[in-house]
Amino acid sequence: MIGQAEIAEIGARLARRAGPDPPAAWDLRIDGDDGADPATLTHAKQQALMRAYQARYVLLPSAAPAGCFVERLRRHYDPGEMARLETLRHALEAELLEPRADAARRDAAGRDWRDYAEALIPELRGQGENPFTAYLRTSPNAQAHYRNFLLQSSADLLAEASASAMGVVGEFGAPQSALFRILIDEFGYGAHGQKHAVLYQATMRDFGLCADYNAYWPLFDTQALDLHNAIHHLFQNPRNFFMQVGFLLFAETAYQRSTQDHFRYLREVFPDVDARYFGEHAHIDLHHTRMVIDEVAGPLVETYGAAAGAEIVAGAELTRTVFDAAGAHMLAVAGVFDAAAAAGRATAAAADLATLGRGLTPAAAGAPGPDAAAVQVGGIGLVDAASFAAFPAGAYGRLPRAAG
Ligand SMILES: [Fe+2]
Ligand SMILES: [Fe+2]
Repeated sequence: MIGQAEIAEIGARLARRAGPDPPAAWDLRIDGDDGADPATLTHAKQQALMRAYQARYVLLPSAAPAGCFVERLRRHYDPGEMARLETLRHALEAELLEPRADAARRDAAGRDWRDYAEALIPELRGQGENPFTAYLRTSPNAQAHYRNFLLQSSADLLAEASASAMGVVGEFGAPQSALFRILIDEFGYGAHGQKHAVLYQATMRDFGLCADYNAYWPLFDTQALDLHNAIHHLFQNPRNFFMQVGFLLFAETAYQRSTQDHFRYLREVFPDVDARYFGEHAHIDLHHTRMVIDEVAGPLVETYGAAAGAEIVAGAELTRTVFDAAGAHMLAVAGVFDAAAAAGRATAAAADLATLGRGLTPAAAGAPGPDAAAVQVGGIGLVDAASFAAFPAGAYGRLPRAAG
């Protein structure tokens, strides 16, 4: 297991490479850990792993920072420093992600992928409204919770399909070309204004959020990092290729339904907000599910056998597990925040990125002093430290800089 000392060591190297005041896209820093709270160490590990994954594709800040840009680019993608982080990557994956992947494999052993896929479509399409948007209809802080949902999801969606693109390059026959057609849909067929990440930016801006890549890194909670790392773990390891197909099968099918709920919700409750991101997915993912089944999974299993099909089921069920956990967490955090707000102990507020200080988990917030500062929880708002201690595991907050 990676210990506190290794995380501190890599954290110092990442901070040195990022330099002072880095633009968000090139900020490599991870949170420190005083060794008192295991959840804080887990958070730092999830951050280190996500830094390793994000280093595998091109990210440029929207505006050039001071100094020679090419020199900064070379430092950000320094191969020696990247290799240092990569040496920790497998151990982090083994500890944080692989037990769930192995469990999904065990459960899927011997299952028939086609029976599974044909049952999955009516099951997911037939579900009622997703619990999060249904809850928001009753919440007095709906706008704050939606803002937080967008913020936490931005860890992946501001570079939407960059993770899955890692599973498209190479050479593996006709299924590769079908995956490539899905990928170029995700990239708007090359029309920048249609790229899904660009549509997502528009929704974020309409909720008053900054749409720069990783702008909200300090507020990503442990659960959000876990979800997005689980996806990267599949796509950044070619050995998981058939599980990647399972991810796409589940994600494209689940997205048909969830984006429809979000689209309807936004149209009804926030009619002035740009909801094209959700409307587009509710439509195009019908095709993507079909393409995954008919042009990718079917031919692959025909060529490579039933064990490949079981891997596809495992990847889909792993995706169900991490999506469900993320959804339940988002809902639990909203409920606990609303209860604190009703008791006068929390206030909805957009985060002020300039004033954020030290991060903390609910466990680390235990027994705060009477003058403890309020904690900014994601994009939702401020909660007093005693109330934050009762938030579900996987939540993450920040103290104001003065108190940090
Ligand atoms: Fe998409
Ligand atoms: Fe899609």
